[in-house]
Amino acid sequence: MKKILIPLLFSFLAFILDSAFAQKQINLNLPWKFIQGDNPVYASPGYDDSAWKTIAVDKIWESQGYDPYDGYAWFRVKVVIPSALKSNASLKDSLRIYLGKINNYDQAFLNGQLFGINGNNATPEMAKDSAFIQAPMNFWDKKRPYTLAVNDPRIHWDQENAIAVRVFDQGGQGGMYTGDQSIMMTCLGDYLAIENNLAPYVFSQGKLQKVVGLKNNSVFYHLNGIFRMIAVNKLTGQTVFTKDEKVNLDPGERKESTVELKQIDQSVLITYRFEFQDTGETVSVSDETPYITTPTPPDKPRINGPSVTAARPGKPFLYAVPATGLRPMAFEAINLPEGLILDKQTGIISGKVSIKGNYQVTLKAKNSKGEFTRELTISIGDRICLTPPMGWNSWNCWGLAVDEQKVISSARTYREKGLANHGWTYVNIDDGWEIPGDKNPKRDTAGNILTNDKFPDMKRLGDSIHKFGLKFGIYSSPGPLTCGGYTASYQHEIQDAHSFASWGIDYLKYDWCSYEQIAKDTSLAERKKPYFAMRGALNTIDRDIVYSLCQYGMSKVWQWGDEVGGNLWRTTEDITDTWESLREIGFSQVGNAPFAKPGNWNDPDMLIVGWVGWGPSLHPTRLTPDEQYTHISLWCMLSAPLLIGCDLERLDAFTLNLLANDEVIALDQDPLGKQAVPVIKEGDIQVWVKDLSDGAKAVGIFNLGKNTVKYSLDLEKAGIKPGGQVRDLWRQKTLETTGKILVTDIPSHGVSLLKIKQR
Ligand code: GLA
Repeated sequence: MKKILIPLLFSFLAFILDSAFAQKQINLNLPWKFIQGDNPVYASPGYDDSAWKTIAVDKIWESQGYDPYDGYAWFRVKVVIPSALKSNASLKDSLRIYLGKINNYDQAFLNGQLFGINGNNATPEMAKDSAFIQAPMNFWDKKRPYTLAVNDPRIHWDQENAIAVRVFDQGGQGGMYTGDQSIMMTCLGDYLAIENNLAPYVFSQGKLQKVVGLKNNSVFYHLNGIFRMIAVNKLTGQTVFTKDEKVNLDPGERKESTVELKQIDQSVLITYRFEFQDTGETVSVSDETPYITTPTPPDKPRINGPSVTAARPGKPFLYAVPATGLRPMAFEAINLPEGLILDKQTGIISGKVSIKGNYQVTLKAKNSKGEFTRELTISIGDRICLTPPMGWNSWNCWGLAVDEQKVISSARTYREKGLANHGWTYVNIDDGWEIPGDKNPKRDTAGNILTNDKFPDMKRLGDSIHKFGLKFGIYSSPGPLTCGGYTASYQHEIQDAHSFASWGIDYLKYDWCSYEQIAKDTSLAERKKPYFAMRGALNTIDRDIVYSLCQYGMSKVWQWGDEVGGNLWRTTEDITDTWESLREIGFSQVGNAPFAKPGNWNDPDMLIVGWVGWGPSLHPTRLTPDEQYTHISLWCMLSAPLLIGCDLERLDAFTLNLLANDEVIALDQDPLGKQAVPVIKEGDIQVWVKDLSDGAKAVGIFNLGKNTVKYSLDLEKAGIKPGGQVRDLWRQKTLETTGKILVTDIPSHGVSLLKIKQR
């Protein structure tokens, strides 16, 4: 017996010792204890939480039985922090407790002592400061890497430690949700920033260039090693470029390196890897190169945009004929209904039509290269917004830092960069134009809503936007305060609607946030009430205002958004510029599809291409080019409202190519107004199909996986008759017609977007 036992015992001990020594990280993606509500005693290490429920920290609490719940909640977990972590580490100075991302705000306590607030290290004294609940500036998307010096008395080495996290969710999704929570020692790599997203790639004479920064954020350590760049063709897997540089960075030093590549018709995956000379540790990040598919529009005139536009009888009508081609261009409109006039130089049609009807108008555009004719239906009736609105909104770029100058320069850029020629129309101010509430709304003595200093004259702003032939949008909330804490419309709906009308507003985004405190309960009636109230107010003014509900999809808003008079409604929480956010939101738009129709649109939130940042400082979107093609393709397939969320003045060639493809936009603006539905899901591939007004089908083949896929689409399985003409919409090229099977290579997170004629 002994003979067998002893070797077994040895190998068991060896295993334990080995795993203790090898341990570099403690996984905190464990079941945590959870309670709703708030009590400071929950931070205390000795608190008995045995009666609390358990909760997973890799998904929001709404998906774990707490829907809808907004407000305070506490998470607790107990872990032994072994000193082996220190002995195994190359640097022995700090411990990092990483809590992933938290929706929305957090205070984190270790053994009863505060150590972190909203992603920043904190001293225990700061626990008294209740200001950790701040304006909703995307804190839910911010990482929480808290660090403590190894000799910090808050850490109990080799003993049990209680971690308690106080969370406040101000609306929508809540809790710890990323599943990557951990404890580990900090390492050299934590001090190195590989800055590959400071600016996008620049196209120059067939080449692509980008400057990548290397920054040593330590005030103490020298970072020495080899910086390697490896570029791999995403479709073929071939390495197209490598570059090794020896780099020594003194404390605080920053160096730059330039990447230069030949421009090709697809993305190249570039990995930037830093290998530390002293420890062998590596840090790597990657990005992908942009490629342009949209052909430059011809010099000859071409009229783009939707084939139908609408207004209510007797309400101001404004429509600028969207046309590409050389300027000067002369416009003509035959059979315009009575009450409308055309400005022949600008192509702007304006006026009022008092008699209901569908008016068939023939539009003509003429320049030195030729002439183009197209039919437009002007529908005068009760329903407006017959195709999804297309425009720009200030939120995803400027957040609360929006001002008049930024709005007016966006409007100007629409024209200068030619966006208006593709049907982009609205210029919308989001939150941040009103007077900050400071807990209480502020109005003038007559109760009129006031603008803050950044918007000195709304009427003047509206007039200048209209002069460009563009439309003007604004934002408010049904509660006393907006989501950003500014004065909102509660109990002033009619007065505000009249102010909006006097400024020339054409579009209102109406949020929810502080109405949570007004609503008596979470019943459907209470959810509908504030939207009925503003609808009633909008009905009293002499303008058409597109009515956009923004309550994040609560109570299946798509089932009753039309009933409360909405034209579009947000179906989800706020989007951010990550693949995870895009994938979660975009590919979950399924059950709401039957509710999309002319005049009613499901809104999966605004676009996240170009320079975004929720203000005041912006960065190029973190989506790869293929993810951006997926984004625009999917939103167009979904008949989603298209609201550009980036700084238009920094629009680069790649982003413009995404926003100016008339054949892709035509899917979104198709007058049939059908939302695409997924018809095939095979592994990482999803095939979505959208019925079009001309009888053709739009097909989006999306690759949600990490590798390129050669996919064979069985057309019949997708409900499409084989043998029809196939058009690659991004490249605007007609492909050979195939038999029953259509084979395409789809890069990771990319798309093949096709239109297939039905015979
Ligand atoms: C909410 C909305 C956002 C934006 C902000 C403004 O979060 O979902 O789109 O309007 O409010 O505060």
